[in-house]
Amino acid sequence: MNETYNDKVVRQFAIMTVVWGIVGMAVGVLIAAQLYWPALNFDVPWLTYSRLRPLHTNAVIFAFGGCALIGTSFYVVQRTCHVRLFGDRLAAFVFWGWQLVILGAVVTLPLGITQSKEYAELEWPIDLLITAVWVAYAVVFFGTMAIRRVQHIYVANWFYGAFIVTIAVLHIFNNLAVPVSLTKSYSLYSGVVDAMMQWWYGHNAVGFFLTAGFLGMMYYFVPKQAQRPIYSYRLSVVHFWALISVYMWAGPHHLHYTSLPDWVQSIGMAFSILLLAPSWGGMINGIMTLSGAWYKLRTDPILKFMIVSLSFYGMSTFEGPMMSIKTVNALSHYTDWGIAHVHSGALGWVAMMTIGSMYYLIPRLFNRTQMHSVRLVEVHFWTSTIGVVLYIAAMWSAGVMQGLMWRAFNPDGTLTYSFVEGVKATYPFYLVRLCGGSLFLVGMLIMAYNVWMTVRNEKPAPVAVMPAAVGV
Ligand code: HEM
Ligand code: HEM
Repeated sequence: MNETYNDKVVRQFAIMTVVWGIVGMAVGVLIAAQLYWPALNFDVPWLTYSRLRPLHTNAVIFAFGGCALIGTSFYVVQRTCHVRLFGDRLAAFVFWGWQLVILGAVVTLPLGITQSKEYAELEWPIDLLITAVWVAYAVVFFGTMAIRRVQHIYVANWFYGAFIVTIAVLHIFNNLAVPVSLTKSYSLYSGVVDAMMQWWYGHNAVGFFLTAGFLGMMYYFVPKQAQRPIYSYRLSVVHFWALISVYMWAGPHHLHYTSLPDWVQSIGMAFSILLLAPSWGGMINGIMTLSGAWYKLRTDPILKFMIVSLSFYGMSTFEGPMMSIKTVNALSHYTDWGIAHVHSGALGWVAMMTIGSMYYLIPRLFNRTQMHSVRLVEVHFWTSTIGVVLYIAAMWSAGVMQGLMWRAFNPDGTLTYSFVEGVKATYPFYLVRLCGGSLFLVGMLIMAYNVWMTVRNEKPAPVAVMPAAVGV
């Protein structure tokens, strides 16, 4: 093991990223299949769609995404601060504590134990554990920055830092509740205030968990893999401040046409449209990092993952502001268009950036020059790209069709289609989504094999040299 840096915890998180990715996506494939063949719940309460759906979202966001974010942040902060991670034992607690949180979710969600708040379903005892783990995570991360041996704080750390602080604030305030038993609590908020809090949380979970953290990953791993400095460091700093100051206000776009005051909805819409600018600034900065190195895309499947991921980031952050316009939302809300948007962000941006970064990281963590099979990385790239495209193209088509069917009127004012006709018309699209999702999962299984072979043939660690202190 490399003694200079604490890479043990990074390795643990990296391996669990792949494991939880497979589990979370397998549940995704199962619920996608249930929408096509409802009998697949086998009349077992634990396997019903309503219970497995939150299991899917928690597993992919917090288990797969969370392990990727915590693991890479620990790797990046050590390399960019030229110092070993602060607090080995605390870092180990972060790893084991986070796995315990995930196990808690895996047990309680199928049992139907839930707060019924989207992306914050877990009940209060698990919420308390999350708080403890998150505080430990913050201490390790910011503690490492505090003892850094370089003056400058590299931009990736700013993004990771914003992700850590904001998620702490969101988690605490959205989960304030009165417990009535070990498995049941009631929210401190009620009515429209509860909805407002929930979507302030929900949207910023997207903004800081699924975006800011992964931008941190992007700002470190894209330049590393491309062997080029970031296109514009100045732009990255502007990107950071613009993104974090605008994201906070966009939550009400999830509550258009509800009892939330109209002016609040309009503010949410205005800030969402503004959000296009910093998002695209970041996307352009990432993609342009390849200036002068575009030829590498022909032969490097890891870079392909990263650049396609950035393209999906650009697509979903163009689509999001459009969907936040009230008249567009009147068509898209409640339809599968939302599911297409979610997965172009979640599979296209989040999962592909994670996969690319893991392919960079894993050989280095296990003292190999590259993955066991670069050919299989290439196969994985194409499997996932085709998988995402099938998934989102099917859901876009289904969503727009549903929206149009639901709002179609006959001349006498009655509805042209009954709801069930809309459901029937959606069936073929659900089958295409199932195929796309299954392809993506197959890609993850290929990755697991490749990772296993890479880890199995680990080489002895070279003697590591800590870079000299700079600028202190
Ligand atoms: C093999 C890959 C995947 C498949 C087959 C899949 C499938 C599904 C399905 C069937 C739903 C329910 C849709 C509905 O309610 O109509 C869903 C929801 C969701 N999935 Fe996935 N998923 C996959 C990967 C991911 C990943 C990697 C993420 C995040 C990083 C993710 C995040 C979400 C979220 C946030 C929702 C809730 C969307 C909403 O409420 O609007 N999924 N997924
Ligand atoms: C500029 C950036 C973005 C804006 C303005 C935006 C806007 C929106 C809008 C308007 C909705 C539909 C709300 C509704 O009708 O209920 C939505 C849903 C959603 N978006 Fe985005 N989006 C952005 C980027 C992203 C990205 C990059 C991701 C994922 C990585 C993402 C994940 C989600 C999720 C998970 C939902 C579903 C929430 C739910 O109902 O459960 N968004 N977004």
